Amino acid sequence: MPERLDKFLVSQNVCTRKEAAQLVRRGAVAVNGAPALSPAQKLEPGADRVAVEGREVSYQEFLYIMMNKPAGVLSATEDRHAPTVLDLLPPELRRRGLFPAGRLDKDATGLLLITDDGGFAHRMLAPKSHVYKLYRAGLQRPVTEGDVAAFQAGVAFGGHAYAPARLWPCPEAGEAAAWVEIREGKFHQVKRMFQAVGNQVLTLERRKIGGLLLDSTLPLGACRPLSPEEAGQVFQ
Ligand code: URA
Repeated sequence: MPERLDKFLVSQNVCTRKEAAQLVRRGAVAVNGAPALSPAQKLEPGADRVAVEGREVSYQEFLYIMMNKPAGVLSATEDRHAPTVLDLLPPELRRRGLFPAGRLDKDATGLLLITDDGGFAHRMLAPKSHVYKLYRAGLQRPVTEGDVAAFQAGVAFGGHAYAPARLWPCPEAGEAAAWVEIREGKFHQVKRMFQAVGNQVLTLERRKIGGLLLDSTLPLGACRPLSPEEAGQVFQ
């Protein structure tokens, strides 16, 4: 579907709409090799070639955003009472159709993906994809060898059975901290798995989804777009 040039540049995270108008006015934007005449000019994304200051804009149909989710915001698209992760997006990353791919509890922090690619989210969340998620948990008491064995065998709690998970201590974060790696994404899963062994999660941070690590330079509440290659690491 044809799209306005300025909207195209915003959707590809090149600039804001206002900056697009300035770039066009300066003659810095070319479409199929010819200088663009107006920010309202129509083009066919993916078919027409767009360059800004001589550099070609490689077209990305979908947007993938990594967020370091802070506590206190909901992994939802909208809510009447609490801020959502979409409220934290800077204006240049806002687009129609964005949603969090996989949830983190309101009090949990760390790696959250936001996208407008429904197929990607579906594949990432499908149980048969076996996408592992790595969490660091602050606990009420240190993990024991018995807990490690119980997680390895698969625990059950409140009528739910959880698939085997890897659990190991994280002494650098305190004596009652641990890493846990799960491949399912059931409601409150990590919290309930620790409840199953008589422990309690006090803090929970997601560090990794598949092969994609949380960018350690992203402060809490910040986000950045991912390249398609980075998004693909989820499935590695
Ligand atoms: N498990 C939980 O208990 N909460 C989360 O947010 C994610 C995994």
